[in-house]
Amino acid sequence: MRTQVAIIGGGPSGLLLSQILNQAGVETVVLERATREHVLGRIRAGVLESGTVATLRAAGLGDRLDREGFYHEGCFLTDGDLSIPIELDKLTGRGVTVYGQTEVTRDLYEAQDAMGTTIVHGVEDVVIQEATGTAPFVEYTLKGARHRLDCDYVAGCDGFHGVSRKTIPEDKRQEFERVYPFGWLGVLSKTPPVSHEVMYSNSPRGFGLCSMRNAELSRYYIQVPVGTDPNAWSDDQFWEELSLRLPKETADRLVTGPSVEKSVAPLRSFVSEPLRWGRLFLVGDAAHIVPPTGAKGLNLAVSDVYYLSEALIDALKSGNETGIDGYSDRALNRIWKAMRFSWSMTTMLHQFEGESPFEAQMRRATLNHLSRSETARKDLAENYIGLPY
Ligand code: FAD
Ligand code: DHB
Repeated sequence: MRTQVAIIGGGPSGLLLSQILNQAGVETVVLERATREHVLGRIRAGVLESGTVATLRAAGLGDRLDREGFYHEGCFLTDGDLSIPIELDKLTGRGVTVYGQTEVTRDLYEAQDAMGTTIVHGVEDVVIQEATGTAPFVEYTLKGARHRLDCDYVAGCDGFHGVSRKTIPEDKRQEFERVYPFGWLGVLSKTPPVSHEVMYSNSPRGFGLCSMRNAELSRYYIQVPVGTDPNAWSDDQFWEELSLRLPKETADRLVTGPSVEKSVAPLRSFVSEPLRWGRLFLVGDAAHIVPPTGAKGLNLAVSDVYYLSEALIDALKSGNETGIDGYSDRALNRIWKAMRFSWSMTTMLHQFEGESPFEAQMRRATLNHLSRSETARKDLAENYIGLPY
């Protein structure tokens, strides 16, 4: 098989890249390890920046997003009974849209089917060959048989545990990492959300987050120790612990019910530089991970795709390679700022085991300052709604 761009991974990054490239007349083949059902079943991000929404709309994915997504003019931070409204729209002129990653992925699959692009599911043992030459190719196993896909470029969109990043020799990349000593236990429940706007809560018992998917579907998270088994938490225990971390007035209004999904996500900040090795490019979680506290993971994947699609279209349609030469620096510039923001939100809102009373005071002072200073809230809002591309 031959294509112009071989895309490893059919998550949001790989599918969106395929969508934008095919719209511009560039051929792609997506190689995905899992089944479509598995990819669609992963409950993950929920908050889309306006730049993400604009990119999805331009890629022909705006219909259901505009109908079913919820525009949020603000969000809240809380600390005990102190509630700090962050008026995103008023402070920056833009808000965010709540629309689940599962829905984005579903829209992408439908759009790709309508365009008739090639997505191969169930591939194993993917190996990227000759990335630094002029004729790279990808080998993979499908139903027991080995295959070869020749291409002009390879896009590594295969997430944190994929093969693409590891294909780059260790002496050609630099990794930066912070692993946090806690994770998030997330619950999806068929209950009306306690708050229309997303609420990030600091408390002496740890962090809690209230989010939503629609008027009858809520998404909640609590900070838990690293290595926590989600099945060790009953629904009742989860609701009780979440309530204890919210302002009393909010906890009193919390509608509880059976969970429809429960999982634990570890928290990590990670960047691998550069994002290019010859004709191989890293995109999204394959290159970087942010702790979810700033709601940046999916949004960063979309801005990477935006930059790379522009660069590949220029290279393949006009032979202009300036864009692909600049991709890594351009994307990293935005990635590092989102890294900083996600790290600062995580530090401000979580309890760190063994921390000194000084650190707890710093957290309280930061929240106190935010509650009093519109300048501080504006800075947070500017980062939360997403820095410009
Ligand atoms: P992925 O979504 O990881 O997609 C990579 C794809 O590549 C997968 O489909 C995988 O099956 C496939 N793949 C992997 N290895 C191979 C291989 N060797 N060969 C072929 N295919 C391969 N972000 C937020 O903003 N908010 C959140 O609440 C949030 N929660 C999260 C919870 C979890 C458990 C995780 C893991 C992430 C979460 N994120 C969240 C981050 C967000 O979901 C990611 O940033 C986003 O999914 C990145 O998309 P991606 O396509 O780059 O990577
Ligand atoms: C959601 C996830 C986040 O990481 C976040 O910061 C806000 C909302 C969510 O799943 O809805």
